[in-house]
Amino acid sequence: MVAIAIIGAQWGDEGKGKIVDLLSGKAQMIVRYSGGANAGHTVVNEHGEFRLHLVPVGIFNTNATCVISNGVALDPESLLEELDNLDFLNVTPERLLISDRAQIVLPYHKLLDSLEEGRRGDNAIGTTLRGIGPAYVDKTARRGIRAGDLKDLTTLRDKLQAPLNYVNSLLTKVYETAPISEDELYENLSKISQRIAPHIVQTELVIHEAIQQGKSILLEGAQGALLDLDFGTYPYVTSSHPGAGGAYQGTGINPSNIDHVVGIFKAYCTRVGAGPFPTLMEPDFDALIREKAGEYGATTGRPRSCGWFDGPMARLATLVNGFTSAAIARLDVLDDVEKIKICTHYELDGEPLLYPPSDPATLEKCKPIYEELPGWKGPTSNINNFQDLPELTKNYVNRLEEIIGAPIDLLSVGPRREQNIVIREFS
Ligand code: GDP
Ligand code: IMO
Ligand code: MG
Repeated sequence: MVAIAIIGAQWGDEGKGKIVDLLSGKAQMIVRYSGGANAGHTVVNEHGEFRLHLVPVGIFNTNATCVISNGVALDPESLLEELDNLDFLNVTPERLLISDRAQIVLPYHKLLDSLEEGRRGDNAIGTTLRGIGPAYVDKTARRGIRAGDLKDLTTLRDKLQAPLNYVNSLLTKVYETAPISEDELYENLSKISQRIAPHIVQTELVIHEAIQQGKSILLEGAQGALLDLDFGTYPYVTSSHPGAGGAYQGTGINPSNIDHVVGIFKAYCTRVGAGPFPTLMEPDFDALIREKAGEYGATTGRPRSCGWFDGPMARLATLVNGFTSAAIARLDVLDDVEKIKICTHYELDGEPLLYPPSDPATLEKCKPIYEELPGWKGPTSNINNFQDLPELTKNYVNRLEEIIGAPIDLLSVGPRREQNIVIREFS
């Protein structure tokens, strides 16, 4: 056993936090590899309920090393706030490592995120306003500030020059707003760096060493496959690669060392922010599920739209990420539903489609075709064994497995760590 990647298979918020928390008890290293403080991973455990944004969920396993690796867009202010909330765990620099290659999200990235959303008007993406898009833009434009740059304050000031010149031209000439003060930014970063610097190392080497020592590593995905910059519902996506590809690139682990890729699906779908959502439920039902399941964003508190399980989207997620296992979370949310719909395929101009088209306008024209299954109408939250589930629940899970195209090895039937049905162990 080397590394297991836990990947959101839909539009995020599938319940990754809960499942990473469950599995991290057996891991010696937990690595968060992509996205930034746009993520909100909920954990309900013996200490209470937590929403983690940057700190890997594995932090609750005090015997494990946690890593924020190179693929992450790291907002140091958000990280420090999170660490303050977790001070009872005594998160030492040895317990939480930060890659020196991780891009830093600066205050102006958040400002640009919100200015750009404003400029998009009716076409706004509905971002989390956490500066994610602008930070990755700077990364690819090769003017980003990286965590390693915070370690040497004497050279940091020089390194800020080029990005600041650029951003201040944008702010004043394009957005016609006030420029960023270099002194203020530098002072702010100097303060922050004192706390962050001891955590910063070349994490790809530490991860490689852990692999050499045969340690078990859990890779914690953020967002989800359908928010992927390439394979998601572009342009309504995030600016990183939440999937298996992102797990390699975002950590420096080579392909031979990830031997299990677990796709986390909800038993239905949700989406927060703008963008196509073919299986959106009828308005009354959407509201009913949202209230029952508390479907509100863990980062922004925005209401999540709810939809039926989307087969074509699930197939694409499996195709692109090569899930070796799937987990279905929030199965209990459907406990009272009379008739459960599954979208098996789309219809476009009278032709069946098994995979979503890449063009958003064409996707809008696709009609979801549903199969209706009778609901099981009974509680599942206290069941821990697949055999004890109602037959109709098993039928639903088996049908999802056929569509997903990967074995469903785990069911989650409640937010707490013990509310699971393990069908097959991942290791
Ligand atoms: P993540 O971003 O994928 O980690 O998911 P979020 O934490 O944003 O949202 C998932 C929500 O579902 C959280 O409120 C969890 O506590 C909750 N949750 C996770 N698994 C289950 C489950 O099996 N049943 C129920 N009812 N809630 C769950
Ligand atoms: P976790 O890890 C759900 C969505 C935003 C928006 C789009 C782009 O908790 O599953 P961004 O701020 O990334 O530029 O916003 O992506 N989004 C998420 N939706 N869960 C997330 O993370 C998300 N992270 C980003 O709502 O539609
Ligand atoms: Mg979330």
